Amino acid sequence: MASLLPCTTTPCPSSRPLFPKPSHFITNAKCTPRLHISCQSQNNDSNSQNVEGKVDRRNVLFGLGAGLSAANLVSTQAPASANPIQPPVLDKCGVATNLNTGEQLDINCCPPVTERIIDYRPPPVFQMKIRPSAHRVSPEYIFKYNMAIDRMRRLPKDDPRSFMQQANIHCAYCNGAYDQAGQGTLDLQVHNSWLFFPFHRWYLYFYERILGKLIGDPTFALPFWNWDNPKGMTIPPMFVDPKAAIYDSKRNQANLPPAVIDLGMTGNTDPLQVVSNNLTIMYSEMIRSNADVFDFMGQPYREGTAVNPGPGSSERGSHTAVHVWVGDPREKSGENLGNFYSAGRDPLFYCHHGNVDRMWTLWQYYLPSNKVPEKRITDPDFLNAAFVFYDENAQLVRVTVKDCLDNLRMGYDYERIDLPWLDYRPPPQTAKARIIRTASTAPLASTLFPLKLEGVVRFQVPKTKKGKADELLVLENITVDATKFLKFDVFVNDEDDNASELDKAAYAGTYAQVPHKAEKKTGTSTIRLKLTDLYDDMDIADDDTIVVTLVPRHQGPGVTIGGIKIIEAPPKADAAAAAAPSS
Ligand code: C2O
Repeated sequence: MASLLPCTTTPCPSSRPLFPKPSHFITNAKCTPRLHISCQSQNNDSNSQNVEGKVDRRNVLFGLGAGLSAANLVSTQAPASANPIQPPVLDKCGVATNLNTGEQLDINCCPPVTERIIDYRPPPVFQMKIRPSAHRVSPEYIFKYNMAIDRMRRLPKDDPRSFMQQANIHCAYCNGAYDQAGQGTLDLQVHNSWLFFPFHRWYLYFYERILGKLIGDPTFALPFWNWDNPKGMTIPPMFVDPKAAIYDSKRNQANLPPAVIDLGMTGNTDPLQVVSNNLTIMYSEMIRSNADVFDFMGQPYREGTAVNPGPGSSERGSHTAVHVWVGDPREKSGENLGNFYSAGRDPLFYCHHGNVDRMWTLWQYYLPSNKVPEKRITDPDFLNAAFVFYDENAQLVRVTVKDCLDNLRMGYDYERIDLPWLDYRPPPQTAKARIIRTASTAPLASTLFPLKLEGVVRFQVPKTKKGKADELLVLENITVDATKFLKFDVFVNDEDDNASELDKAAYAGTYAQVPHKAEKKTGTSTIRLKLTDLYDDMDIADDDTIVVTLVPRHQGPGVTIGGIKIIEAPPKADAAAAAAPSS
């Protein structure tokens, strides 16, 4: 094993290449490349809070790693207005009950309780783990991975590292089993907010370390399901071998390979169109529809915030689609992947979330800065939010969001695969847009909202001012039945009433959620869709109004939208204030 060289004497590898060869593998990483902190001092004292002093000021301006405290940041975002989310109290974990119907949700997914909790920081990185694309792994890798999962399945049931206990982590954090510590009966929920990426990053981190420990290979790295690349747009073949430990029988049988993943869930059956839809969705949720970091990461969620303040574009888009697409329609609640309480029981879950986590890394470090407005949330309520997990030694540990911001510092990276969606901007659509706006007799939005979304609706929304191109479409106070799969697409000046082709300029974005058991009434969500590029592509910046079409992709009722409006994109400094919860 290569030993760690301190970066003070050996320059860290320069920044991560944008389009490296797909076969590019780093086997002996030296330390994190972006921060020229002395790795030695960082690593010799992994509990040190004082790395700031060792950081060159230029590096603070160019990029920040997980070891830096919030106070060191020059924040352009609004200060905290409450307190960070605290980890749940394990012995208060309960069986979720639906308070509205009184129905016992009849799942007990509470972890074993231990007294001693230790504060955890990622240990020094001696060798970088490289998470491989699941479609490209070798037979040896598949063998090892199955051996690890098999051993996990054989651990005693009450071992917190056992297969079901690991699956139950997801259940407990996502289905109302925990209340927010110190907040009465307010549910703790790690989805549909800015906690989404950090929670799942830590979850996979310990899951991966447990697997590595079980096969005596500390370099073991989870695979990622590369569903954003056409070559990865089927369930990775290794997961469909019924004899494999990573197999799960509760999956939609119609969607086994060679079925092409449908990230848009439009029902379009032409595989080539579906691939094009998928790339458009990736471009939209990673680049086109986000005006600030909250639009991508999810809305603020602090102590006292009601659940589901608003999912980010990636969570509600590709992430939700993969869950629901794989979940088994023969099962009552779409088990396993199609419902939060059971999702962790399918090994494919962790592979799916590998790619979800990769999207966060891409957002932070690889997307060209002219395409990504801000890369980091600097709010202390975000950075200091905390969770608890059992580590690979079955020790209960407390972790914070600020320690997971940099995947390299956590000791893993992703195999480099090119990003075919990076420039997948839809072609201009100006002529059609013009016809729509002159011919539209659609009612004004103000006459329809609050709106129960039960079919396709079309209406006009006034722009903030003529000629102002930098605007956002805000859908506010969205209330959903949490137990159902719900999804709708948003189109602007589109002539089509049931578009199953998303690869066009008129496609503005998506709202969708994975079904879950909800103990209490869910809060209301807000999402925002940036319209700047859409206005350009359709040449409608100078209009007074736009025509919006909402196309539900689910059957039946379940979504109410409180209001819809267009606002001017706030200047950067006000981004967090605009995103602050309204309650
Ligand atoms: Cu915690 Cu993909 O969900």
